[in-house]
Amino acid sequence: MGSPTAPHPVLKKYYESESERRPFVRALFDDAAEHYDWVCALGSFGSGQRYRRSVLVRSGLCPGMRLLDVATGTGLVARAATRILRDPGALIGLDPSGGMLREARRTLSIPLVQGTVEELPFANNHFDFLSMGYALRHMADLGVAFGECLRVLKPGGRVLILEITLPSSRLGQRVFRVYFEKVLPRIARISTGSAKAELLMKYYWDTIAGCVPPDMILGVLKSSGFIDVERRVLGGLLSEYLGRKPV
Ligand SMILES: C[S@@+](CC[C@H](N)C(=O)[O-])C[C@H]1O[C@@H](n2cnc3c(N)ncnc32)[C@H](O)[C@@H]1O
Repeated sequence: MGSPTAPHPVLKKYYESESERRPFVRALFDDAAEHYDWVCALGSFGSGQRYRRSVLVRSGLCPGMRLLDVATGTGLVARAATRILRDPGALIGLDPSGGMLREARRTLSIPLVQGTVEELPFANNHFDFLSMGYALRHMADLGVAFGECLRVLKPGGRVLILEITLPSSRLGQRVFRVYFEKVLPRIARISTGSAKAELLMKYYWDTIAGCVPPDMILGVLKSSGFIDVERRVLGGLLSEYLGRKPV
């Protein structure tokens, strides 16, 4: 079993217990970092960066704000944000994986910090906006993670969490499953020659399939202290969770 607000149960196919989740996830991203942008483009059919920029704008990110991009990885959300903020000093990227941060440094000149969302190394009330792209499934405990997000935001500050969600229709789920479970890992393996890239995509599917339902994520955001909590869904697949820190 996982913790009370774990995003998915322990996945015994990959690790034996909750305590092994964090080292497994870190090694997974360290080992596949060089292939991440490519496999990510395969998974999003090339629309990823356009989408990341548009959701940031729609959610209220604008010049003059100070942004923390949690789980920045190779910096895909951060790169989209720099085009909006137009000031590399206005945002910080954070990620536990040294390999992912190394890749991010190749294209970004923003401050990049190694750390986890569960223990953010920042002062209280510091950021206007906090983004977290496609990493919710890797947290050990959603309550702890959201509590930290709330702490570092200024009063009135906004959180935006992007996630992939299983389609609600049976047919949608079947198509999604075939592509993400069977096709995508194989394409990742063939196109990169890397078993690590294939493993990353297999794990991607298993965490999506095992993820707690959106209502639970909304509930934990609320119980962590966020207000104006909502979920927007695009194309039945892309979930955008939003919330605000009370003034
Ligand atoms: C799928 S990648 C997403 C990267 C980027 N946000 C994007 O939109 O492409 C997930 C990232 O979450 C990071 N991660 C895993 N566990 C984390 C944690 N506890 N705190 C913060 N980041 C974490 C991983 O190292 C990885 O870089």
